[in-house]
Amino acid sequence: MQPWTLVGVLSLLLAVPDALAVKSHDFKTCSQAGFCRRGRALSARAAETKAWKSPYSVDVSSIAITPDKAVFTAGVHSSLYPDIHFGLELRVHEDGVVRVRLDEVNGLRKRYDEAASWALIAEPKISQDITWTAGKKDIRAKYGNNEVVVAFEPLTVSLLRGGKPQVVLNGRGLLHMEHFRNKKVEETKTEEAAPAPEEGAEDAAEQVVLQAEAEPEVNPRAWFEGETEDDWWEERFSTWTDSKPKGPESLSIDISFPSHGTIYGIPQHATRLALPTTAGDSPTFTDPYRLYNADVFEYLASSPMSLYGSIPVLHAHSADSTVGIFHAVGSETWIDVSHASDKSTETHWISESGILDLFLMPGPTPADIFAQYSRLTGTPVLPPHWSLGYHQCRWNYISSEDIRTVQKRFDEEDMPVDVFWLDIEYADEHKYFMWDEKNFPDPVEMTNDVAANGRKMVVIVDPHLKRTSNYPAFQEASDRKVLVKQPNGEGEYEGWCWSGSSSWIDFFDPNSWDWWKGLFKTTALKSGWSWTSSTTDIHIWNDMNEPSVFNGPEISMPRDNIHYGGWEHRDVHNINGMLFSNLSSKAVQERTDPPQRPFVLTRSFFAGSQRFGAMWTGDNLGTWEHMAVGVQMVLANGIAGMSFAGSDVGGFFGNPEPEMLIRWYQVGIFNPFLRAHAHIDTKRREPFLLEQPYKGIVKDLLRLRYTMLPVWYTAFRETSVTGVPVLRPHYVVFPKDPKGFAVDDQYFIGASGILVKPITTKGATETTVYLAEDEVYYDYFSHHVYRGAAKGKEISVKAELHQVPVFVRGGSIVPTRERPRRSSPLMKLDPFTLRVALSKAGSARGELYLDDGVTYSHEKGQFVWREFTAQTAKKTVRITTKDLGAEKKEEAVDGVALASYNPTNVYAETIKDVRVEKIVVEGLSGKPASVKVEGGKELVWEYAPGIAAGGKGEGVAGVLTIKDPKVLVVKDWTIVIQL
Ligand code: NOJ
Repeated sequence: MQPWTLVGVLSLLLAVPDALAVKSHDFKTCSQAGFCRRGRALSARAAETKAWKSPYSVDVSSIAITPDKAVFTAGVHSSLYPDIHFGLELRVHEDGVVRVRLDEVNGLRKRYDEAASWALIAEPKISQDITWTAGKKDIRAKYGNNEVVVAFEPLTVSLLRGGKPQVVLNGRGLLHMEHFRNKKVEETKTEEAAPAPEEGAEDAAEQVVLQAEAEPEVNPRAWFEGETEDDWWEERFSTWTDSKPKGPESLSIDISFPSHGTIYGIPQHATRLALPTTAGDSPTFTDPYRLYNADVFEYLASSPMSLYGSIPVLHAHSADSTVGIFHAVGSETWIDVSHASDKSTETHWISESGILDLFLMPGPTPADIFAQYSRLTGTPVLPPHWSLGYHQCRWNYISSEDIRTVQKRFDEEDMPVDVFWLDIEYADEHKYFMWDEKNFPDPVEMTNDVAANGRKMVVIVDPHLKRTSNYPAFQEASDRKVLVKQPNGEGEYEGWCWSGSSSWIDFFDPNSWDWWKGLFKTTALKSGWSWTSSTTDIHIWNDMNEPSVFNGPEISMPRDNIHYGGWEHRDVHNINGMLFSNLSSKAVQERTDPPQRPFVLTRSFFAGSQRFGAMWTGDNLGTWEHMAVGVQMVLANGIAGMSFAGSDVGGFFGNPEPEMLIRWYQVGIFNPFLRAHAHIDTKRREPFLLEQPYKGIVKDLLRLRYTMLPVWYTAFRETSVTGVPVLRPHYVVFPKDPKGFAVDDQYFIGASGILVKPITTKGATETTVYLAEDEVYYDYFSHHVYRGAAKGKEISVKAELHQVPVFVRGGSIVPTRERPRRSSPLMKLDPFTLRVALSKAGSARGELYLDDGVTYSHEKGQFVWREFTAQTAKKTVRITTKDLGAEKKEEAVDGVALASYNPTNVYAETIKDVRVEKIVVEGLSGKPASVKVEGGKELVWEYAPGIAAGGKGEGVAGVLTIKDPKVLVVKDWTIVIQL
């Protein structure tokens, strides 16, 4: 095969947008994946057989409970394979999460059991407060209002709350752990006929008997396992053959939620937030949701197909409660979803390999689930502050002069931007770190020119290493023997990617870790090569880390490739991409002493990725459908931990017309991660290239994002402590409101009270917005008051091209900085504006969190964390502020102790003179008689009469604007408004 030239690659990738279509044939459907086909066939047989009964049961004589009563173990066997042994382990964590593990014991081989070790932050603390009661049919662990019941025959595990089942494992009898077997022995061995499924299980029994009469040598396990050894020992797909040296080892488990009718999560898929069905009556999708990290070219805007990242986390929700599941499995997994009624949900998880390692999160609220999941896998990172600004990317800025020109044009147009990006063409022959010296002769000077304006650069480093001796990253990896190996485990695996013939580092090998981190050092190392032609203002973009292999099966690595410890790629595929970006993130963090906060964007991710950086939704198309589903995908990623998420503004493929580009910027500025990006074949579309009035509209949008950075940073900080996502869909904010369960085109930003409904349809001039409660909502721009209703209400609002529907929920105080500058660091000492959006009851509350945004000094108490409140009593509104940092001694939900306020707070000192320059109070009941800082003189203010929050009717609110009240953001003060 010839090396991939740029032209060759482009001819493959370039297509007229209208003709774009996913190459479905590159990717397996369930029926093309042996283990998925077997899993679904098992489910179909169970559905057809009236009294289906799982053959798995608990060996009661083996039950053991540790002296501290927290860990239960028992042997499990399948009546079909009396000689095969399984071990069940159940632990109740301190916070009520139940971990259920099932593994084969003393099998021919060991199943991969390390997925959790990559996802979890620590060994969870075990509950000390459990009462076990053993009966004839089951054993029960009671703790608080919850109970876990292990039924013996057949084996089921149920989580109950208040006596009501919340989660049931194997209730449908689909548990099946394909044990390891020896091919030859298996073929010749005759096994004892297994009993029929169940006494009285007439259909199944009859089936066995009938088959036995017709063909005496019929497989007696066929009722459960199927008639044939379907793809047990080798599997073909397209031109590839998977050697499957371990034979069948898949794992099937049904997980039911008898009291929950809506489920969310298991990203990443391009689909609605409330997951549509894939099984049962008239399913929306015919295939299950697939989790198998893949580089899906021109993915569909509505599909259960796999995408770049996988997080096996699911929320099951009802108006009464939320429960969650986290399955720590790193192999390919398919998940069927069906509803027996609108009040219950059944799921069926089918994984190619690995042990059962399930965490049942009892809730009972969405916020509890976020805390429970964060305690397991960590809270999302608090990113560098500048990374919440605007990122300008394209494939490619072609030279250092190009970067300088783009920067100049942004400055000329007074458009804020924080980061310029370089895609793969900066690298000589796609050897990452190695500059193309012709076009980038002065990378350090180029970066310094960008940094002179407070800006940063992000440069791509992909995981495929060009196999050439003049590339230190490859040569050193090869010398250290840390590259992924071929199926036989001997030679280095070689595949094709941007750099032609390439190899991949095996980040499961600890020997690769320090070496990889060393490559990012900007100073020379004694021990090997380092990136001395870079600076600490360069941060990193990790792409293609599924991994994407152009000539591999499903555009990825063969499953029989070998990783550290002898594990096959199939066992770890979904974890693989995460390790690359986690290590890159640590590398950037540790290249300075003391460390600085890294920014690393990753395309592939897994449970735990949230601790390290941001992700984006990959190669979206320039279509309205992709714009809309991008919003839903960012929400779904957020509820599975990946809050720092965004989709390519403008659409990666295609040339958006101005209307679409503007709407995309409106989506983008309300995404946690805001980056414009474009395919190499697209026309340049930097916002300064637009004609008026479009240029002005985008400029205003970017400036709006910058004014709202205090809202974003405060939201990120809260998320890094509580795990509750930055973007909050309705069910998270109003868990008891069923009308909001399917709402996924509008959301709140953190706890700020800001509600956004991006427009994602062509030609829109108005839209409807759902208000879930009997409260006032203020239009962010016009101060128009809308009123919701106790049972929810839709309002109609204007949405002309320059308008994006944004509201402030009554009862919120929103801090902004209304003087956007060229980049966010330049705004560090700028004054604040407070918008006090009074509730119907005349109160409001908000928070502001600030720190230096780049170092870890906040972990030593160097931050400013203010609370603002407003209360109305006896015709007086008092707006006051206090220091939450000094007051609150908090712990993040993942157990990280938050530094308490440091009285010698160097950071607070640096902003000691920063003022609140304006306070805007919306919804007052009338013109004030006086407005003063408590104990001070009358302030300068003006009042525009209008609707009162506590009154009736809709229309423009009464708005009081207090000008320069001469109060400081770091000091306590009270403003008194006499009505
Ligand atoms: C694929 C990525 O998804 C895209 O964003 C990038 O521009 C290309 N690879 C080239 O690096």
